[in-house]
Amino acid sequence: MGLARNLLLWASRNRWIESQVRRRSFARRAVRRFMPGEELDAALAATADLKARGFGTVLTQLGEAIADRAEAQAVHDHYIQVLGRIREQALPALISVKPTQLGLDLDAAACAGWIADLAARAGPDLVFIDMEDSNYVDATLALFRRVRERRANVGLCLQAYLRRTPADLEALLPLNPAIRLVKGAYAEPADRAFPRKADVDAAYLALGTRLIDHAAARGAPAPVLGTHDVGLIAECQRRAVAAGLDRRACEVHMLYGIRPGEQARLLREGHVVRVLISYGRAWFRWYLRRLAERPANVWFVVKSLAG
Ligand code: FDA
Repeated sequence: MGLARNLLLWASRNRWIESQVRRRSFARRAVRRFMPGEELDAALAATADLKARGFGTVLTQLGEAIADRAEAQAVHDHYIQVLGRIREQALPALISVKPTQLGLDLDAAACAGWIADLAARAGPDLVFIDMEDSNYVDATLALFRRVRERRANVGLCLQAYLRRTPADLEALLPLNPAIRLVKGAYAEPADRAFPRKADVDAAYLALGTRLIDHAAARGAPAPVLGTHDVGLIAECQRRAVAAGLDRRACEVHMLYGIRPGEQARLLREGHVVRVLISYGRAWFRWYLRRLAERPANVWFVVKSLAG
């Protein structure tokens, strides 16, 4: 899907580039466009600001595969603290967690136990499970099922770019799952993911429509639209009405700093709009994935270089 995208996704996995970039203050300045700060306090303060304007948020601590169980335990304990702060401050915030950051690679049963524990403490709010690269899809689906057996308030992210997702969705539908539908952010081979944007968009709409029709027929949750693609959101609104649901049946979740004008417009139209706020030290890989989504963003980095 374009040289610039592939180059940025390659750089996101290069440790030498990471160590160089993390040291530069220009990079820290550029990153501010997509995250209010590295610390939880910054994410909570941004949530309070957004709350005053009518938005909810989803909080996520950056980080991917970890090396040992103690680190995973620490991530779990951190999220317990986050849920406590959300409750104390009466903030309209959910959490979304990365399975490998909670030790999916090391001990899948413990990972499920920790997420179920977070869901118990978040109840009735949803706890979302992110979807990582395609090597983790099977394990993440199994993880979701395991947690879902214990807690109803858990949601799962599905990626429209994967060729397998329609079949995965069909297998999940009997659970009436809460699904956040995204296009997909990782570098994937063409036999696993559609290389062409037009195919990804068509797959997104087909999956969204399937979930909307299922919601209308079964009273299941309507999908959360995790996208900045306002054309697709408008089409899903039409599909919702055609299925007999309210046009605002789907919540819209967008990333902090991306298309804020559209976020505000959707809110004015009566949608529930949540802004996903990432925070934490491990921003490098995540930030390069944001640049890869829109290589024109590299221009912002260049501008911040200039001061
Ligand atoms: P697309 O890339 O087509 O963008 C649509 C329009 O939005 C563009 O034309 C552009 O104007 C604007 N835009 C999009 N990205 C931008 C950017 N970075 N900077 C500036 N403008 C931009 N992925 C994943 O694999 N697993 C996950 O768990 C999640 N979770 C997740 C949660 C939420 C709430 C969101 C919004 C996204 C994710 N993603 C994700 C990321 C997702 O897969 C995808 O990479 C991005 O959302 C970008 O794709 P869009 O759907 O926005 O469409």
